[in-house]
Amino acid sequence: MADIKAWDTYAQQKPERRPTNARGETTWFNWTQYPDHGPGAEVLGIGPGGSALDLGCGKGGNLAHVAALGARAVGVDVSLAQLKAAEARWSDTGMVLHRTDAARFLAESGEDFDAVYSVFGAVWFTDPDVLLPAIRRRLRPGGVLAFSHRPPVEGCYGCQASYINRSEDQDPLVVKRWDYEPHRWVEILREHGFPAATARVLPAPPGPRTVGTLLVRAQG
Ligand SMILES: C[S@@+](CC[C@H](N)C(=O)[O-])C[C@H]1O[C@@H](n2cnc3c(N)ncnc32)[C@H](O)[C@@H]1O
Repeated sequence: MADIKAWDTYAQQKPERRPTNARGETTWFNWTQYPDHGPGAEVLGIGPGGSALDLGCGKGGNLAHVAALGARAVGVDVSLAQLKAAEARWSDTGMVLHRTDAARFLAESGEDFDAVYSVFGAVWFTDPDVLLPAIRRRLRPGGVLAFSHRPPVEGCYGCQASYINRSEDQDPLVVKRWDYEPHRWVEILREHGFPAATARVLPAPPGPRTVGTLLVRAQG
């Protein structure tokens, strides 16, 4: 079960998405931690009439773009603060938001999806042995599971601690995340019924920062 207090705290620190991207678009899909970088929603292979589920949708920026493509856009997040921000900005898009834990939603919802994705979201912060079987059950045949987050630190694999800082006189809050090298993600996905998975690290854009983004895509 996700730590709601930690994620509500994170929500207060996370700035709003810009009004437009570098191309002047009001909605766009961003898989990486860098603006105007990396592939877009084509990774999901969805369009009008399709449906996509965002696990850990946060303030809803990517989900708004899914809705703009004409797909049914469903978002799940444990943080009320994140979902309030999503509602405040994107209520006119038709996106559907649920405040609940990702694994619980997948277990309790009867809805199937053409795509399930997670951008630095619940897939990173949930044990894959719990979440992947639950996703597998809700993904339509041929559907796409895709997720992104920071690559692992070399030698630090499996469950790791992530710190959400607070003021100087307060301890940071801690959430758990699961880190693996790309080849290990491909094996884990195969073990959970996703035989055709690819995983790669997208390089950081030119500049002072060097940490890339792990992008994983599997077809059900
Ligand atoms: C780092 S933020 C990323 C948010 C968004 N995907 C983005 O790209 O801005 C992680 C989000 O995942 C949510 N989250 C973490 N664990 C979750 C879980 N088990 N179920 C649902 N949401 C979760 C948090 O509340 C938070 O909004």
